[in-house]
Amino acid sequence: MNILIYGAGVQGQFLAHALNKRDNNITILARGKTYESLQERGVRLKHFLQKKNSIDHFNYISELSETDQYDIIFVTMKYSDFYSVVPVLAKNITQNIIFVGNNTNPQKLRKTVLEQSNTDKNISFGFLMTGGNRDKAKTTVLRFNAGELKVSHLVGQIPFHNILDEIFKDLSIKLTYEANFEDWLMSHAAMIIPLNTGIMLKNQYKGRQKQLIKKIINSYNELHLLLEHSNYKIIPRAQATLFKKFKFIAYPLLKIILNIKIMNQVQGSMSEVDSLYEDVKLLNKHSVSTTRQLDQIVKEVL
Ligand SMILES: NC(=O)c1ccc[n+]([C@@H]2O[C@H](COP(=O)([O-])OP(=O)(O)OC[C@H]3O[C@@H](n4cnc5c(N)ncnc54)[C@H](OP(=O)(O)O)[C@@H]3O)[C@@H](O)[C@H]2O)c1
Repeated sequence: MNILIYGAGVQGQFLAHALNKRDNNITILARGKTYESLQERGVRLKHFLQKKNSIDHFNYISELSETDQYDIIFVTMKYSDFYSVVPVLAKNITQNIIFVGNNTNPQKLRKTVLEQSNTDKNISFGFLMTGGNRDKAKTTVLRFNAGELKVSHLVGQIPFHNILDEIFKDLSIKLTYEANFEDWLMSHAAMIIPLNTGIMLKNQYKGRQKQLIKKIINSYNELHLLLEHSNYKIIPRAQATLFKKFKFIAYPLLKIILNIKIMNQVQGSMSEVDSLYEDVKLLNKHSVSTTRQLDQIVKEVL
């Protein structure tokens, strides 16, 4: 299968590595310094928990022309960057596209691509259950197993599921078709908006961490209520129960997450959190629920 991975960050590089087999012809679209470094050194990953390194070599391009055709394009970048590549993707003739990553309005993203495109397209969505970070020298991946890509067409079956099955055949990385993916994506955003905001505020709250954790927990409860009032299901359900009914467990858990070294391996981006937060805040307009505590901690970062 001819695969393009559009976006060469942590997730794009790991996905390329995980899909690397004889029958998959993988091209990575990278830009600037990332493109130069990949051309020079290949995809070099440090697998943090496995204590091993890997090097893979792929085809690299820095631009996508209208006539470059792939069986599938995986777009792996921050939610705040997806719209910057929509015009290029819309012009390109490839039919099957999966946007991989956080996303609080997949319907709008799909509509935008389809409106700008002159050719037929199937737009699906995914989320890679691995984390990591990168600097000039290396990309570090945090994974507890061989990795998992959750995918969905939001409603109905992914029209190109046969291609996906072929791509993932005989590989260790798991491919999971998700039902209720919009609920899942919204619940995941509700999980990371307060957490990443808390991580960004950690230094500001030195010596007052208890106060910060309390604010994070209150923000979770506000967000979960807002989602439920907006007719989203919280998936997994335990996420809402934990912060509402088991604060005595949520508190030490958040303390560990804020302080252990392993969480420094998961790269957050405030620009992405801002975009997710802005979408979620639109729900406020149609709901009586407020997110006063969350609004306050988000403002403290800005
Ligand atoms: N990293 C994690 O721990 C983790 C965990 C779970 C979920 N996720 C989610 O997965 C998604 C991807 O995250 P990530 O960590 O892989 O992000 P990332 O490391 O920032 O990678 C994004 C890549 O896209 C490239 N890019 C951005 N805009 C572009 C454009 N207009 N044209 C071409 N390339 C462009 C960036 O280029 P440059 O190389 O020039 O920056 C970068 O290589 C996000 O939604 C994120 O929240 C990440």
